[in-house]
Amino acid sequence: MRRPMVAGNWKMNGNREMAGNLISEIDRGLSVELATSVEVLVCPPYVLLESTGALCSDTPMKLGAQNLDIHESGAFTGEISGPMLLDCGCEYVIVGHSERRALFGDTDELVGIKTRAAFEKGLVPIVCVGETQEEREKGVMANVVSRQLEAVFSETQGNVFPKALVAYEPVWAIGTGLTASEAQAQEVHALIRERLSQVSAEAADSTRILYGGSVKPENAEGLFGQPDIDGGLIGGASLHAQDFIDIISAAKS
Ligand code: 13P
Repeated sequence: MRRPMVAGNWKMNGNREMAGNLISEIDRGLSVELATSVEVLVCPPYVLLESTGALCSDTPMKLGAQNLDIHESGAFTGEISGPMLLDCGCEYVIVGHSERRALFGDTDELVGIKTRAAFEKGLVPIVCVGETQEEREKGVMANVVSRQLEAVFSETQGNVFPKALVAYEPVWAIGTGLTASEAQAQEVHALIRERLSQVSAEAADSTRILYGGSVKPENAEGLFGQPDIDGGLIGGASLHAQDFIDIISAAKS
């Protein structure tokens, strides 16, 4: 059985006051039963990690970062390493988010190296993959998602799975209000699981694959009800406590 996860990617949003209010409101809405069946993660910006981690420490919520540098330490001005994230209390780190691929030069290869660096330092990577609108229209969605996964397999020999997670985030559905239909999302999740079977049967069976892209309380239950969708990576709606709680509730089996 794969335990569902709902993860909030705050992106570049929030401050300490907002984080304090949000975490306490989410915590109030998380019953013991809900928190037992669904793993809940928040991924604030770097500068809020430590304070948010302290707020989460007596709640069931776990802490993740949105990115990391591949080096351990040294002359890399402005970067943050895996050991620093661990030191702040992070257990998870998102790698290869499409915004980093499109805006900050994270190539397939670099995403693979980041995945390896995170795992070697004891963080659990959440590896994002997904096609653009243009790629979907050209009919190359499967090639793009497979290529992105292959780069991670080749840098890590695949041995980060099934501990690491995959997040399928179609770029055209992120922040646009357009969501992949349940059938569109399930099709790609099944493809990802099939690719994971190249690594091992265990990787295919046990790796959690999250869906991300305009997940809202209204569409969460239908998406999470698909056989290969094991929860969600939530952007905008994770900044609203009630929406986030409703989405977490939708992941409870
Ligand atoms: P939205 O939920 O705002 O579409 O963002 C999805 C996302 O990019 C999560 O990483």
